[in-house]
Amino acid sequence: MSERDGESFRALAENCGYVPALRREEADLVVVTTCCVRESAENRIMGNIGQLSRWKAERPGRLLAVAGCLVQQEGALENLRRRAPHVDIWIGAFEQEKFTDLLQAGGGSAVYPSPLRAGPAREPAPLAELGKISAAVNIMYGCDNHCAYCVVPQVRGPERSRAPQDVLEEITSLAAAGAREVVLLGQNVNSYGRAEGWREDFAWLLRAAARVPGLWRVRFTTSHPRDLPEALIAAAAEEAAVCPHFHLPLQSGSDRVLRAMNRGYTAAYYLERVGAIRRALPEARISTDIIVGFPGETEADFAETLRLVREARFSQAFTFMYSRRSGTAAADMPGQVPRPERRERLQRLTEAQAEMSLAWRRSLVGFRQEVLVTGPSKKNAALLSGLTAGREITVFPGREADVGTLVPVLIKEVNSWTMFGEIIR
Ligand code: 5AD
Ligand code: SF4
Repeated sequence: MSERDGESFRALAENCGYVPALRREEADLVVVTTCCVRESAENRIMGNIGQLSRWKAERPGRLLAVAGCLVQQEGALENLRRRAPHVDIWIGAFEQEKFTDLLQAGGGSAVYPSPLRAGPAREPAPLAELGKISAAVNIMYGCDNHCAYCVVPQVRGPERSRAPQDVLEEITSLAAAGAREVVLLGQNVNSYGRAEGWREDFAWLLRAAARVPGLWRVRFTTSHPRDLPEALIAAAAEEAAVCPHFHLPLQSGSDRVLRAMNRGYTAAYYLERVGAIRRALPEARISTDIIVGFPGETEADFAETLRLVREARFSQAFTFMYSRRSGTAAADMPGQVPRPERRERLQRLTEAQAEMSLAWRRSLVGFRQEVLVTGPSKKNAALLSGLTAGREITVFPGREADVGTLVPVLIKEVNSWTMFGEIIR
């Protein structure tokens, strides 16, 4: 989502006459998009912004803008200004549309007043001209859930959906400009159109997107496990262009912790949903997000998470140490888990999942996978790199003309991150 935000700023800057710079030293403008979902992300961003003070001082007239969630946090702006006085433009997650004005003024700030109300459900700039093979499309903004650990509703506001015609028009123009894959983005795509009371739900939108001419693949993220409807599983199973991949954040395998997190499901319910997906789509990839060390999490709770990770057979898991975010319900809960314990659990969880990821990839060896060729491999430019329907990075020999096409690849070797193979010609 932050990457997609960055693309909006790039398009808005291009509308003002800027052109993309290849390297930072050539740039007249740098926009840093920020995320405040975890403290580690916040620290990294502050480090990056600090480093940019040198870049800024090297040539007069350079502009530095900082955008997104970090800026939108309640009362954050004053503190940020003190910590980074060299930043010219501060712009909250709600205020992208004001970027052009701030750019033309050469500085200033725009932060939506708290508490956040539903803002506009439209994109500030069309992106078709970026000409990407795989393009992200926002279908909704904000979140109406109240997961006890999460700061997103505070900085991204209430849930609101983009009109189906707007989404489909954007997808159509992306496809016309050469996109072959789109990724539909929302904090919880399952509730698309719910706040608006639309008849067009997410399963409908997914089917409509899958039928846009020129598009080969449609992905979506994220689905809340609590409300993953049968109609969505059916759409994924029946529409050839929809990738058989569900990102279904688990967060914890312990019912006690799930309740404290206010997630609205149990471990058994989660596994039942995984089973429903696998019954309809035996080849489906299921990936997840997991937090360790939520306040009150005991060793026994953590053991439940490990057990579920082995049972669910995730193709991939993004694993996080719980991070205390001020203003969230969990911030003041008793039983905050000390950092060394959180770190140790994270290590064990990551190891368990690495084994599972490798086992999953090994099961693909000797089989044919359709790969969307994205370009030369980052590690070895003589090879091509692409993505399977399950978003596994796959590397293989090929020709420049293969880039941007879908090729059948025989998988020969895998490690935990990459698969290697050969095109079947
Ligand atoms: N601490 C750790 N991880 C978090 N996430 C969200 N909030 C926190 C937090 N306070 C994780 C969740 C979510 C993912 C995007 O980030 O796992 O699914
Ligand atoms: Fe945060 Fe929960 Fe909303 Fe996801 S569903 S953005 S974790 S509040």
